[in-house]
Amino acid sequence: MARIPKETVDQIIHHADIVEVVGDFVSLKKKGQNMWACCPFHHEKSPSFSVAPAKGLYKCFGCGKAGGVVQFIMDIEGTSYVEALKYLAKKYGIDVQEEEKTPEQQLAQNEKDSQFIVSNWAKDHYHHLLEHDDEGQSVGWSYLRQRGLNQTTIATFELGYSLDQWDNLLKSATAAGYEQKYLEKTGLVVVKEDDNGQDTGRRYDRFRGRVMFPIHNVSGRVIGFGARTLKPHDKTAKYLNSPESEIYHKSDVLYGLYQARQPIRSEEQCYLVEGYLDVLSLHQGGVKNVVSTSGTSLTDGQIRLVKRYTDNVTVLYDGDAAGIRASLRGIDMLLEGGLNVRVVLFPDGDDPDSYIRKVGDQRFKDYLETASQDFIQFKTELVSREAAHDPVKKAEAIREVLQSIAKVPDPIKRQVFLQQTSQTFGIDEQVIISEYNKLARQPAGKPGTGGGNTSSGGGSGAGFQPETRNQPPRASRQLSPEEEAEALMYGASPEDLAGGGAGAATDDMEPVPDILERCEREVVRLLLLYSAQPLAPEVSVAQYLLEQLDDTTFKTGIYADMLHLCREELNQGRWPEVRTLIQHGRADIRSAVAELATEKYELSPNWTTHQIHVPRELDVLQPACDNAILRLNKVNVERELAVRLEALRNPTDEAEMMENLQTIHLLKQMDNQLANLLGTVIPRLNG
Ligand code: GTP
Ligand code: MN
Repeated sequence: MARIPKETVDQIIHHADIVEVVGDFVSLKKKGQNMWACCPFHHEKSPSFSVAPAKGLYKCFGCGKAGGVVQFIMDIEGTSYVEALKYLAKKYGIDVQEEEKTPEQQLAQNEKDSQFIVSNWAKDHYHHLLEHDDEGQSVGWSYLRQRGLNQTTIATFELGYSLDQWDNLLKSATAAGYEQKYLEKTGLVVVKEDDNGQDTGRRYDRFRGRVMFPIHNVSGRVIGFGARTLKPHDKTAKYLNSPESEIYHKSDVLYGLYQARQPIRSEEQCYLVEGYLDVLSLHQGGVKNVVSTSGTSLTDGQIRLVKRYTDNVTVLYDGDAAGIRASLRGIDMLLEGGLNVRVVLFPDGDDPDSYIRKVGDQRFKDYLETASQDFIQFKTELVSREAAHDPVKKAEAIREVLQSIAKVPDPIKRQVFLQQTSQTFGIDEQVIISEYNKLARQPAGKPGTGGGNTSSGGGSGAGFQPETRNQPPRASRQLSPEEEAEALMYGASPEDLAGGGAGAATDDMEPVPDILERCEREVVRLLLLYSAQPLAPEVSVAQYLLEQLDDTTFKTGIYADMLHLCREELNQGRWPEVRTLIQHGRADIRSAVAELATEKYELSPNWTTHQIHVPRELDVLQPACDNAILRLNKVNVERELAVRLEALRNPTDEAEMMENLQTIHLLKQMDNQLANLLGTVIPRLNG
């Protein structure tokens, strides 16, 4: 058994910084004394995993996992204590003086470690062949160069070459003292079986005459390989991959993540491609925040993996229509996972690799910026194009889009998407909402069953409420002439009103209930978290918001009270702050403050829809404030409008009706103005 001297252990623990170590695996955000993230050990949508730098500890309040640096590495990597120490030693450049061991002793440490070790050895072996062997050079190396890859990329991804022989790896590994057992377990060596599945005793290398792509886990250890044939007319598959093993679980791996994780975090964006070569070309071209699903459909595990580093994913597609249709489902899964999803399409016939080589790095990056579209918007346009002149198809298309929207766990985002859908299809938003609610109420397509079930903490993601209160059944009700005119005014087409299809109901005019509460909450959140931040010289967030609100009172009790408190604070010459309000006498206020302050930072979705790089909230406070106020006003106007429209249905006398009509007219103007203003705060897609 390998031993690491006690002094070295102490030295490692002394040097290892818990925030740095944990930060390599999850994206930590500072809140108060501690750092927070979504727990890497269990599935959750709001962070209950905390790191206390001062104590050198991590703890998840959701699943209970806790410990120090070494424990963290053991937990996340599933390795032994010794391997975890070695990992940390390597990270901090500490020399570990182990006693000399034979390869067998090394292998004996434990099964998994042995498989890691032999995989690592194989990676070095293949890499060495690529760089120093004649065949490796003339076949492998020249192929990679011809694909445009340079020395740095080859080194960064530790690419290699397997000789075109039956047992080069098997022989070399055996000569170096590695046990055959582990070569077999990792799939590097194949056991030849006869027709009855009996071991014939013969063994041969799985990978022969191929370029080798080592697959790393998030801490950089090799867990398997992808291997590309170099024979253009090879009868075998273009790519061979390592089989599943104790260390390689395909559904939990994204190719390139080890190299991409820091860039993903700093860019707050992850590009998702399909192929190994796509990852390599983009990385080399400076787009380093890129990972690949390696040709398989996306899994939950992979989505969770991405979510450790960012909430923003952009899927890069090759542009053939069939492929796009086929991928829509996978993308819905990303939405269910609570990610903001954008899409970039490449011209027909190009994949990201061929496109970047064709247009060059800079134009490629520009293209990512300009061609990227919010996924729901993208899907909406795709299906609305398909259904352009066919009302029946159109209704179906709308439902298809609404199904995707139903996957989005965040109600505010859903609301924004519903708005966009209404714009793209040219149908009144309330009509869309009512259609959405119909879907949401159907048990079959019941939204939210996929993603939200394991959500812990933070009420917002949990469950999925239809967004209007239960409505009386209305299936057979005819629209009144006013209602019809109403709907047409909002841009519904006559077919939409013809019944049956997507737009039969306009009587769901009641505004979505908890939207108002959320708008109020957002204003309070900005007030509390950023009160003293300057917006313009002389104007802080708190001053600006309170001025904009004028003497508006909130309708949600707790936020009304908090708004009042904020006003008082400012009147007293103090900034309303988390620090003070968290001490408040009322428990419900304390906990509301705590919730707002510890909420996982999530931008209002409105501007995530038009930018590739989601900015830090601190950098976009002005639009954040404007947006919050405008939305709040719009929701209030919509509420009032709903009340007035309802009154119109049961008019008492003529005069009241006229007055109502006038008010409705005014309210609609306001509503449109607000929508326009919202549109300028949040530049719309496609102009
Ligand atoms: P090039 O063809 O060299 O440009 O590679 P690529 O990475 O662009 O491959 P392609 O776009 O054809 O396929 C995307 C991904 O699907 C590949 O990177 C592989 O991970 C996977 N893949 C493609 N062909 C096969 C195959 O025959 N078998 C397996 N197991 N995977 C494949
Ligand atoms: Mn390709």
